[in-house]
Amino acid sequence: GGSKTPATNTPVESGDILIGGNFEVTGELASFGTSTRNGIQLAFDEINANGGVLGGKNLKFIVEDNKSSSTDAAIIAQKLIQNDKVVALLGPVTSTNSLAAAPIAVDNKIPMISPTATNPAVTKVGEYIFRASFIDPFQGAVMANFALDNLNAKTAAIMIDSSSDYSKGLGEVFKSVFTSGGGQIVSEQFFVKDDTDFNTILTSVKSQNPEVVFVPAYYGTVGPILDQAKYNVGFSENIIFLGADGWDSPELFDLAKDAANGFYFSNHYSPDIDTPEVKNFTAAYQAKFNAVPDALAALGYDAAYMLAAAIENAGSADPTVIRDSLAAIEITGISGKIKLDENRDPVKSAVVIKIEDQKQVYYTTVDPK
Ligand code: PHE
Repeated sequence: GGSKTPATNTPVESGDILIGGNFEVTGELASFGTSTRNGIQLAFDEINANGGVLGGKNLKFIVEDNKSSSTDAAIIAQKLIQNDKVVALLGPVTSTNSLAAAPIAVDNKIPMISPTATNPAVTKVGEYIFRASFIDPFQGAVMANFALDNLNAKTAAIMIDSSSDYSKGLGEVFKSVFTSGGGQIVSEQFFVKDDTDFNTILTSVKSQNPEVVFVPAYYGTVGPILDQAKYNVGFSENIIFLGADGWDSPELFDLAKDAANGFYFSNHYSPDIDTPEVKNFTAAYQAKFNAVPDALAALGYDAAYMLAAAIENAGSADPTVIRDSLAAIEITGISGKIKLDENRDPVKSAVVIKIEDQKQVYYTTVDPK
């Protein structure tokens, strides 16, 4: 971009401050988009009930459904900026969808925070792009070191969704950290997001006898992969499947049933964490949405508070002023302390979750070095 005339989203003197939401509300990632949107809505409702920002203005959240499609994610970013005149964007959830929307935010000089996108390329699109999550070089290393140190694994297979920037990036990180730690990758398999039959690649993985299988993909494919590994291909339960944040959905257990038990994945937060902040958040979320908040809800909530604090600190809802204020933000969120490095990426801890009896159980916390 660069040659386009930026949209002039000058905020009105009084009334609401408009924030756009670009989320995967329907489609194959609907569980992600819905949770993230709900976390943000809870935060804005709390902030507005406590007097709003800038001396009494309400944050008004305009959500559009990108249908889990990167094409729609770009169209919606454009619409929210040009038609709705939002001063900032929240979303999308995934790295691929965020990479599609980010150039539009940059061209129009509208700050965009993906609460959840973890691929490092997302914030590198430009200085208007932020996130509330850690990035995949950290997350992938957490799971590679978990395989080496906690599980004493020497051999691993990886199964990558080649239609996802997130999956490809995490696969590379895992491979490099696992091999430099003395492990060996014995099988590397690829699939795409619409695949439903994983029997062939699972048979190939099983023939190499890996101790662990890393599947950095989303619940919609991870569920059938785990189910088919156990019930079609006959994986023994000694082969430990490992995943990342993309496993975080209640739908994983609808799809995998008991085939996910005993496995581990990295995540941003756990509702089991026993701090007053997490307890207050889980209680408020439960009361409003009648569900236990997952990590997407927690990151959405944190991204909304980041944005509100940036507007309040800036003393202005002008998009360029919000951008500068966001770059300097420091808040304590539900998912940890959020302070951004020079790439506008938070540096924060990960948790490892163990799946037991079709439930997520907090296992351990891994801090960044
Ligand atoms: N990190 C994922 C991505 O970049 C999105 C995600 C975050 C999914 C948190 C689940 C939980 O695509």
